[in-house]
Amino acid sequence: MSDENTNTVNKKRIYSAIQPSGQLTLGNYLGALRNFPKLQGDYDCVYCIANMHSLTVRQDPEQLKERIYSLLALYLACGLDPEKNVLYLQSHVHEHAELAWILNCYTYNGELSRMTQFKDKSSKHADNINAGLFTYPVLMAADILLYQSDFVPIGQDQKQHLELSRDIADRFNKLYGQTFVVPAPLISKQGARIMSLQDPDKKMSKSDTNTSNFVLIVEDPASIMKKFKKAVTDSEAEVRYDEENKPGVSNLINIYASVTDKSVPDVEKEFEGARYGEFKMAVGQAVIDALAPVREKYEELMGDKGYLEKVLKEGREKASAIASVTLRDVYEKVGFVV
Ligand code: TYM
Repeated sequence: MSDENTNTVNKKRIYSAIQPSGQLTLGNYLGALRNFPKLQGDYDCVYCIANMHSLTVRQDPEQLKERIYSLLALYLACGLDPEKNVLYLQSHVHEHAELAWILNCYTYNGELSRMTQFKDKSSKHADNINAGLFTYPVLMAADILLYQSDFVPIGQDQKQHLELSRDIADRFNKLYGQTFVVPAPLISKQGARIMSLQDPDKKMSKSDTNTSNFVLIVEDPASIMKKFKKAVTDSEAEVRYDEENKPGVSNLINIYASVTDKSVPDVEKEFEGARYGEFKMAVGQAVIDALAPVREKYEELMGDKGYLEKVLKEGREKASAIASVTLRDVYEKVGFVV
């Protein structure tokens, strides 16, 4: 099946998803969310709320429900128009679980055990290394392949999972003939790997237990500024990009460059001779300015659950219409009676 056959008006298809397993951080914003609205119009875009992935780590049911609405409100608040994009909830489209099962049978244990996120998460949740955590990348492959996706905008940490999706698609296509579009990652130059503010050797993560390590998209400005003021730097006094020797300062340069759409050399020039205190406040203010309109819109949307429900319902219909065509083709190819 070629993408021309499945995608509307011959536009290339974009697909991405975010887990509603915590409040989203500046890392999620710069690595993924912020890039999504730029693609609408030129591409046929599908964005998923990956709630099935979230179950791989224990969730409080009431909180998970609330976070689903919250993530949808963020998609909309960042500028995604539900008329131009398909916005939907993963568990609303039963084909995800069904295709994931099939693809599980075309994925090797060896491949899954090489996934760095699995190794990471199983050390963090040693009391709950469940099978879902292990096969998580297969569900992610099912998400992407169901929609015949050409490009997948993601942060650096998801690149390995995307490569596995490509391998699974290729393997299936070789066995059964053209079935899936083989997806390519879209990783922005800046913002693809935002690091923790206190521990810049590890990535900024929404599941971090130390709240000083991250900034939330909907955090209040005073708190954002406080976190940037105490962000870890180094003993030099030079705003210079050097990931290896100056990870804290390089992370702040990256954040500033990303929210202001400037290049790294331009940022270095702008802060030549500046003290770290001054630089950190400028980064904090730039982040506050970038997030303020998102937060305002988000709060408005969270007050209108009826509207959010309506968007989810429409998204479910549009997503199911695409996913069902792919799954039927797969069922026929593997020899199920349909
Ligand atoms: P998730 O929910 O952890 O993260 C959502 C997106 O945010 C990016 N990201 C970051 N980017 C830059 N710096 C950071 N510190 C940072 N932290 C997170 C992630 O790379 C991601 O793009 N498995 C996925 C969700 C998923 C998915 C999919 C993605 C499920 N199915 C299909 C794409 C296609 C995940 O857990 O992302």
